Amino acid sequence: MPLLDASPYLDGNYQPIKTETTALDLKVTGKIPEELNGRFLRNGPNPIEQPDLATHHWFLGDGMVHGIRLSEGKAAWYRSRFVGSRRVHKKFGEAHSAATRAEIGPNTNIIEHANRTLAIVEAGTQPVELNYELSTVGTHTFEGTLNNGFSAHPKYDPLTGEIHVMAYSPRQLLGKLEYIVVNKNGLVTKTVEIETPTMPMVHDMGLTQKYAAVLDLPVAVDLDLAMSGNQFPFRWFSSYEARIGLLSRTADSAEEIVWCNIDPCFAFHPLNSFDDVNGCVVIDVCCFDKMFDSDRNGPFRDSLPRLERWTIDPRTQKTRREIIDDRFQEFPRVAQSVLNLKHRYGYTAQLAQSPSRWDFSHTLKHDLVNLTSEVHEYGPGRSAAEPVFVEREHSVYEDDGWIMTLVYDRATNRSDLVILEASDFTGPEIARIELPERIPHGFHGNWVPDKT
Ligand SMILES: [Fe+2]
Repeated sequence: MPLLDASPYLDGNYQPIKTETTALDLKVTGKIPEELNGRFLRNGPNPIEQPDLATHHWFLGDGMVHGIRLSEGKAAWYRSRFVGSRRVHKKFGEAHSAATRAEIGPNTNIIEHANRTLAIVEAGTQPVELNYELSTVGTHTFEGTLNNGFSAHPKYDPLTGEIHVMAYSPRQLLGKLEYIVVNKNGLVTKTVEIETPTMPMVHDMGLTQKYAAVLDLPVAVDLDLAMSGNQFPFRWFSSYEARIGLLSRTADSAEEIVWCNIDPCFAFHPLNSFDDVNGCVVIDVCCFDKMFDSDRNGPFRDSLPRLERWTIDPRTQKTRREIIDDRFQEFPRVAQSVLNLKHRYGYTAQLAQSPSRWDFSHTLKHDLVNLTSEVHEYGPGRSAAEPVFVEREHSVYEDDGWIMTLVYDRATNRSDLVILEASDFTGPEIARIELPERIPHGFHGNWVPDKT
């Protein structure tokens, strides 16, 4: 397969921004719900030096976090900050950003767990703790209980307060994954090593009430690429055996893991996972046919993701794949109340082709019981990022809450934080918070309510 040339992941709103920004008292159109007191946080790659157009991979930019603080119906501040790293420290100095052990600041997700704000990423880098205003505190190892790397996709269990990850650390653990559980107090309480034939890129995982599910799919490390220094080290291997591993959450070793076949494909993100009444594991997921084969700069030029349902049967060790929605979409989210349980609703960001690249566009709301969907369009030239569902306090139905998402406007070259009423999905935006700059296309974020 001939490789595709120059990266489109540095064009348009993929372009990095150069400086950190602080802005107070943001302009709001509409009405911010008074119950929303806290911070909307988002992480993404933002190279601090001009990258090489031929070899730059979207996933390898320095982490930059963006935060919007809402308080009593007002938008109190916006802050963008580089995540501390050796590179950021070298460029901006001690006073600007505390040094961490990371060469590149974690650039993929930002969460709050056990009262710590953590920027996180996969592939061996440990979390970096940030303060409330998003300045770097330092590398965080869960009080020394994390031995190797972490993951960008902790699966939260609302019943126990734990977070579960499937981590890989190429430099420390070639050929092994670690299934790690962090308890509600922020300490690692379980680490199970899982052997893999080589080092697959395991971006996320499935979690149900019974199982942790390993997505062992045909994107793996290429040692020649890794040795070359500045290239993205993972690529598609057509001969790699795709499989899903089901590990009991109560297991203390990987001896009893059940490996189930799946046709070759790749997925970064499950929407949600649950145990069905037949003893199968169901994972709704944004699924690509192929990944990082000819496109070594990012995820969208080999194939595009559709919403699928995988039903994985530990008795037959087989996986049934069904397409739920063949529109191209990514960044799936659900309500916290149904995490790891059977869900009805899911939310995704639709992809749309602009002349030279794939961009984001509308937000989709799926009713996975009735197999219907709704589309929220933001107007011409406006494209929405990951839709974060925020539950209303004392909510009584699954979509009782809001969708919060960053929306980039090509005409003004700025972004807004938009709030929708999730149960009136095609209705008007209930609030639009104007940000002083554009937020480049990035990855994941969360709403972090203030502690009361
Ligand atoms: Fe992700």
